[in-house]
Amino acid sequence: MIIAIDGPAAAGKGTLSRRIAETYGFHHLDTGLTYRATAKALLDAGLPLDDEAIAERIALSLDLAGLDRDILSANGIGEAASKIAVMPAVRRALVEAQRRFSRRAPGTVLDGRDIGTVVCPDSPVKLYVTASPEVRARRRYDEIIGKGQPADFAQIFADVKKRDERDMGRADSPLKPAEDAHLLDTSEMSIEAAFLAAKSLIDAALTQC
Ligand code: DC
Repeated sequence: MIIAIDGPAAAGKGTLSRRIAETYGFHHLDTGLTYRATAKALLDAGLPLDDEAIAERIALSLDLAGLDRDILSANGIGEAASKIAVMPAVRRALVEAQRRFSRRAPGTVLDGRDIGTVVCPDSPVKLYVTASPEVRARRRYDEIIGKGQPADFAQIFADVKKRDERDMGRADSPLKPAEDAHLLDTSEMSIEAAFLAAKSLIDAALTQC
């Protein structure tokens, strides 16, 4: 059983995915972390972000067990991840690792941009979680302020829109809902309401498996 959760940056899919995985006792992979870890390894080694062969080599050697959300959550890393995510060779390497993860028993939850369309197109439950750019920027702003760090709303809003453009506009595996995905717009929805909506879709799919 694979649950595919896609959507743009800061739509709330991470929180939702973790909660779903906990509820069903499934393994969870935030696939954004695989792109972030690849980008961070390049940055740390002083390597360029625009050399596909080098980036592919790093992607092929990635260890999924070593992904640390706290270390990889810095904003600059998200931007760098979005840049290397346009490269087909990097995507091929990471998608392969993601597919291997997706087959773990008793089930998995994968979240990202192309899970329902490319990584696991046969998944019986596909959710496309979204929210308006304003709401997503506001959530990210509140999260940073909540940690006691300085934040600039206008800058965050511009970053959210830039990332959307790159993720939706790339040629290889652009962000878009799968044809059979259920849309979940969380702009005016609490996390609890989004979770309950997702749970009823998953429960319905489980009874058919
Ligand atoms: O979800 P995130 O912000 O951690 O993702 C960082 C970047 O990685 C995102 O802007 C695009 C890329 N990404 C992708 O191309 N495909 C995925 N399945 C997940 C992330």
